[in-house]
Amino acid sequence: MTAASRRTESEACLGRVLVVDDHAAARESIIDILRQAGYRAEGLASAVEALPRLDDHAFDVVITDLQMPAMDGLQFIRQLSRRGVPAQVIMITAHATIASAVEAMRCGAFDYLEKPFNVTQLEQLVARALERKRIGEPGPAATGAGEFCDDDRHGGMVGDSPAMQALRARIRQVAPTDETVLICGESGTGKELVARAVHALSRRAAGPLVSLNCPALSPQLAESELFGHRRGAFTGADANRVGRFELASGGAILLDEITEIDLPLQSKLLRVLQERTFEPVGSSETRKADVRVMASTNRDLLTEIAAGRFREDLYYRLAVVPLELPPLRERGDDVQLLTDFFLERAARRLQRPRLELTGDARELLAAYRWPGNVRELENIVTRACVLAVDGAIAAADIRPWLQQPDDLAKPAGAGAAAAAGASLDEMERDLIVATLQRFSGNRNAAAAALGIGVRTLSGKLRSYGFAPRTRDFGNAAHRQMLPLPAATSAGSADRRCG
Ligand SMILES: Nc1ncnc2c1ncn2[C@@H]1O[C@H](COP(=O)(O)OP(=O)(O)OP(=O)(O)O)[C@@H](O)[C@H]1O
Ligand SMILES: [Mg+2]
Repeated sequence: MTAASRRTESEACLGRVLVVDDHAAARESIIDILRQAGYRAEGLASAVEALPRLDDHAFDVVITDLQMPAMDGLQFIRQLSRRGVPAQVIMITAHATIASAVEAMRCGAFDYLEKPFNVTQLEQLVARALERKRIGEPGPAATGAGEFCDDDRHGGMVGDSPAMQALRARIRQVAPTDETVLICGESGTGKELVARAVHALSRRAAGPLVSLNCPALSPQLAESELFGHRRGAFTGADANRVGRFELASGGAILLDEITEIDLPLQSKLLRVLQERTFEPVGSSETRKADVRVMASTNRDLLTEIAAGRFREDLYYRLAVVPLELPPLRERGDDVQLLTDFFLERAARRLQRPRLELTGDARELLAAYRWPGNVRELENIVTRACVLAVDGAIAAADIRPWLQQPDDLAKPAGAGAAAAAGASLDEMERDLIVATLQRFSGNRNAAAAALGIGVRTLSGKLRSYGFAPRTRDFGNAAHRQMLPLPAATSAGSADRRCG
């Protein structure tokens, strides 16, 4: 590494990493590497000490050793899951304990590193974990592996409308079976929440719920993510990799936005559903898939089939039990129930008394079309709570944020959709800036109140043209905005640790 490319903790921080290892030399060497790569890294000698440090969500990534006295790495991850810690977890393990590493991933660890590992492997894995955190992938808290601890994410399916009652009844019917479930609905209607509910009520509930965000992956990566690969299967595959189907063994897998899987992989998926077996990429060894499959989509699959983009036979396999999420505009009083739910939650997160909406504000929300569904309502209520000084939130406070306030009953046309995109961005920007102001520039606190990661927050601020200023953000969090050289520690890549 050259002096110019070398960044120490005081110069840059790409993310916050906690290293938990009872072995001091190993711990220090990992911390050293991470700091040189631009991360803010801290170390602790035991999981018992680490747990309270993680309660305030101050770390993006946790690297933990498996074998530790008092509480081992697996127990640690289960605890993180129970406490709703959103950090991504990487488990370090000796060769002999790969089975535990797989177990760790079932418990919600993001990935594992086998000893001995080199600097590049460590850096790449931490970078991937941070990227995963940035795009909002759940940490161990949301894998379904731990006990349910955060009612927002799990049991929290708010709504008593006939449509939601029917949906709940359907979920109760289908959950205990092992049938494939297809969850359809517009964006932001709660498809992921439904998948979690199905899993929680299933006899696989003690097993993991592993999800795969299909649009995020190239075709080759998607296959490897699903089925794993053998070392040497393709360029860059320098170690065996366990796929999501194997990780989900005994539990369930959610294929999010299934239409984004390309046709060749659709055929392979069909085979898994028919024969309950799969082969890792580059391997001829057949593995058994003891997994319940759930898939979600916000597209009309029949249209996709007609257009030749989706296999009809796969559709029929997936849609054994379709669950349809109604759009929010068809859920009647649910808008009010959800509003109350989000008012409560905002009060809790912002640590201030619960606010109320005036009658005219509630009427306005009831009449609105909700193109962004529950997520949009959540956004507006949270925003109103952040910006409100005191007293009740009035219709006039909210109206400017609605996408078509004067055109409530008409379906959104192309023009309306374009306008909608712009106003959602503006809304988000104002919400973020206001929240940051409310917490006097403290990004950790603002990110926690917004329910997003600090890196996401910093990325957004950067896109708004905010310059990192030490005067305003006197803590280390602001340094996350400083760029880091692409090759962070070339030349030390062959150093081994662990
Ligand atoms: N019935 C509900 N009760 C409480 N919160 C809900 C409900 N439905 C959705 N939400 C919240 O709305 C947001 C969007 O939900 P979710 O991610 O499940 O939707 P989705 O349909 O999967 O969205 P997308 O199409 O963008 O993937 C989440 O924050 C979720 O917690
Ligand atoms: Mg979703």
